[in-house]
Amino acid sequence: MGSKPNPRGVLHEISEPALGLNDESVFEIVRREDFSDVTYLLEIRHQTLAKAAKPGQFVIVITHELGERIPLTIADFDRDKGTITLVVQAVGKTTKEMQRTCQPGTRLFSVVGPMGTPSQIGDARKVVCVGGGLGVAPVFPQARACKENGAYVIGVIGFRSKELVFWEDKFREYCDEFIICSDDGSVGLKGTVTEGIKAAMEKHTDIDEVIAIGPPIMMKACAETTRPRGIKTTVSLNPIMVDGTGMCGGCRVKVGGRMRFACVDGPDFDGHQVDFDDLMNRLRRFAEEEKMAVERWSETCRAGEAAPTATRA
Ligand SMILES: Cc1cc2nc3c(=O)[nH]c(=O)nc-3n(C[C@H](O)[C@H](O)[C@H](O)COP(=O)(O)OP(=O)(O)OC[C@H]3O[C@@H](n4cnc5c(N)ncnc54)[C@H](O)[C@@H]3O)c2cc1C
Ligand code: FES
Repeated sequence: MGSKPNPRGVLHEISEPALGLNDESVFEIVRREDFSDVTYLLEIRHQTLAKAAKPGQFVIVITHELGERIPLTIADFDRDKGTITLVVQAVGKTTKEMQRTCQPGTRLFSVVGPMGTPSQIGDARKVVCVGGGLGVAPVFPQARACKENGAYVIGVIGFRSKELVFWEDKFREYCDEFIICSDDGSVGLKGTVTEGIKAAMEKHTDIDEVIAIGPPIMMKACAETTRPRGIKTTVSLNPIMVDGTGMCGGCRVKVGGRMRFACVDGPDFDGHQVDFDDLMNRLRRFAEEEKMAVERWSETCRAGEAAPTATRA
């Protein structure tokens, strides 16, 4: 059950009796949804994680015994069902391998978390929540928390084109106003999310905060858009992480001229203080090794060798 191939847009679930509901040591994938050729959602049952998760936090996932550790944001959590949701973009070896092997009915080898400092859902009365591409998923819990906290929420989400749009309805549900943008104009406002922010700023002179999540270049552009108006701008940083507990120093980022560890001091930071150029340089450090890892993995797949997979539940 649940191990069928997962064509785009098709949602696969497994029934509850198939799951070890009381087993806190397994991380069973109970639902998968494919949003595009590269973006997929995994819902994982784990009562304790679901109970503990807060907006802005992430987990570190290891798919199989020989797998590497990768940080993924908790894009949603359901305390009643006891599940957390991850939305993943297949960009390199591990995320491509997960795309192939993580199906309902399999389980992840390890999930550690929730990690990171939860987002501060303060007393801002009017908030613009901005998600660019995959960033729509991690900003969603923050938009929901702001709305539940009584704020007026303006949602701005942006994609390269219409085919890549996901979670539009889910996001809209918690927004008082909603703006969708696309680079090619195939849906909503033509342009990047900064066009959406500018539209919101023109209409509203009393915005207290902008929360922006997406690729570093996008978050940098958002921070520059709000800087002249001095609107508090919070971003979520994604440097390379290893342990996620402040031990290895791999996730160093420069914020306000100081070195901070994104895994424990963040991942949320003041966007006007972040040195985005340093972050982008650091993210490119292992480009050659990452390319070789994908090539090696692809060769293994082509040769039909049994690559390690997520375990059957
Ligand atoms: C706090 C945090 C939350 C994140 N949340 C999500 C999410 O919700 N969904 C999602 O798809 N991605 C998320 N990422 C990025 C994700 O961790 C990387 O895409 C993933 O590790 C890539 O691994 P790979 O082997 O597939 O690709 P690789 O080829 O190894 O790397 C591809 C790119 O991913 C980045 N990367 C590689 N290894 C790491 C690492 N250990 N930590 C961080 N970045 C890395 C690098 O920029 C690299 O260029 C998050 C990163 C951080 C730090
Ligand atoms: S990931 Fe090691 S210190 Fe942050």
